[in-house]
Amino acid sequence: MSETATKGGAGAKATNDIKDIRLADEGRRRTEWAERSMPVLRQLRERFARERPLAGKRLAACLHVTTETANLAVTLQAGGADVALCASNPLSTQDDVAAHLVKDHGIKVFAIKGEDHTTYYEHIRAALAHRADITMDDGADLVGALHMIALNRLDDLAPPVRKWVETLAVADRKALVAGVIGSTEETTTGVIRLKAMAKDGVLQFPVIAVNDSQTKHLFDNRYGTGQSTLDGIIRATNLLIAGSTVVVAGYGWCGRGFALRARGAGANVLVTEIDPMKALEAQMEGYRVVTMEAAAPVGDVFVTLTGNVEVIRLEHMRAMKDGAILANSGHFNVEIDLDGLKKAAEGSRAVREFVEEFKIGEKRLFVLGDGRLINLAAAEGHPASVMDMSFANQALAAEFVVDNAKKLTKDVHRIPVELDQEIARLKLQAMGVTIDILTPAQRKYLASWDMGT
Ligand SMILES: NC(=O)c1ccc[n+]([C@@H]2O[C@H](COP(=O)([O-])OP(=O)(O)OC[C@H]3O[C@@H](n4cnc5c(N)ncnc54)[C@H](O)[C@@H]3O)[C@@H](O)[C@H]2O)c1
Repeated sequence: MSETATKGGAGAKATNDIKDIRLADEGRRRTEWAERSMPVLRQLRERFARERPLAGKRLAACLHVTTETANLAVTLQAGGADVALCASNPLSTQDDVAAHLVKDHGIKVFAIKGEDHTTYYEHIRAALAHRADITMDDGADLVGALHMIALNRLDDLAPPVRKWVETLAVADRKALVAGVIGSTEETTTGVIRLKAMAKDGVLQFPVIAVNDSQTKHLFDNRYGTGQSTLDGIIRATNLLIAGSTVVVAGYGWCGRGFALRARGAGANVLVTEIDPMKALEAQMEGYRVVTMEAAAPVGDVFVTLTGNVEVIRLEHMRAMKDGAILANSGHFNVEIDLDGLKKAAEGSRAVREFVEEFKIGEKRLFVLGDGRLINLAAAEGHPASVMDMSFANQALAAEFVVDNAKKLTKDVHRIPVELDQEIARLKLQAMGVTIDILTPAQRKYLASWDMGT
């Protein structure tokens, strides 16, 4: 813990709670390396430094504390925001990056890799205590807590947050929520929750669904998750993928990216789905689509990427081969029934970092990274080049919230399509790719219904 943190964690006045400030130099070097692959965000940072669109705004972000996030945080700060950052997953923090942000940029960071449940929520509390004008989530943890406060459902808050809220006067609690002019959300799971809140009429402020931008989910979810999930599995296990049977649960944006990379590495890929359209796409893409029940006895590696609960259940695990490996790359660690496994297993032991062995009868099953996002637990998350677009969306979404605070309804919005396209244009430009421009005749043809038939 650094000197500025209050003893015992992120106390009310602490400005940070990190593992070790002495890691800052390594964090800076790695963050600069990521920055080289983030040309769109770099351009935005230069503009933000000139125009200061977030001047005077307090921003609380709950994101994976990685080198790419560091580049986003510094961009938001360049735009004038006072930034506080906590982790959106207990295992995804890079402690050197946290130290770098505190030491070199004075950003308030509350995140330690491997933090326990209590510390995780203590850090969420510290981010909430920043009393943000804008919140930025990856999985809706900050927004979720703010809504439990707004709806006075304090029993639904994690104890560290609840205890703090109970010390606040009712008017102060109201001000905490009313002070938020808008929020942004990074991932599919968070957006699903926010849309459910909007549907129930309880959403307290506008939210920008960054995940809904095409320059986010078409690239980050597909190519980012695809590559880094395979990377996480390989780093955790050193497994030869070639010739193995990999079962991919969920053929959405993340699932299709991972299936593509697993096949590229030589795996026989089986896909499980619940959506007939996605299942049909997977089948026509050349994968074998089966049920989890059918996949269980034949798979060597099982990876869930659905955003759903209990996708792999005890009955599936009991049917698996000795030595089967289970990993998750969906947002929460609820896709594999780990509680069921823990209860049924005769015992467990750590066999490598991020690999836990469970014994069921004569069989051993191996769970990677506690069933949490394996690409962030055992690898470094998405490559910077793809986060360049995701985080350009985040920075533009924060600016959009400020510029449109009075106009935006309490609903889930996306950033305008023109901004999404501008990000794609800038990315292509940075990659040295030039595309054709419509000729006047082509433009006219596309706008007509009576030409050229
Ligand atoms: N690992 C990462 O870094 C990372 C990055 C982006 C998103 N995510 C998370 O990954 C998850 C998936 O995101 P996405 O963008 O691919 O979502 P998506 O909606 O595009 O895909 C999810 C797919 O899972 C399928 N599905 C749902 N329940 C299922 C079940 N029981 N069995 C099989 N298939 C099932 C759905 O039909 C859908 O096709 C979300 O939790 C998201 O937040 C993780």
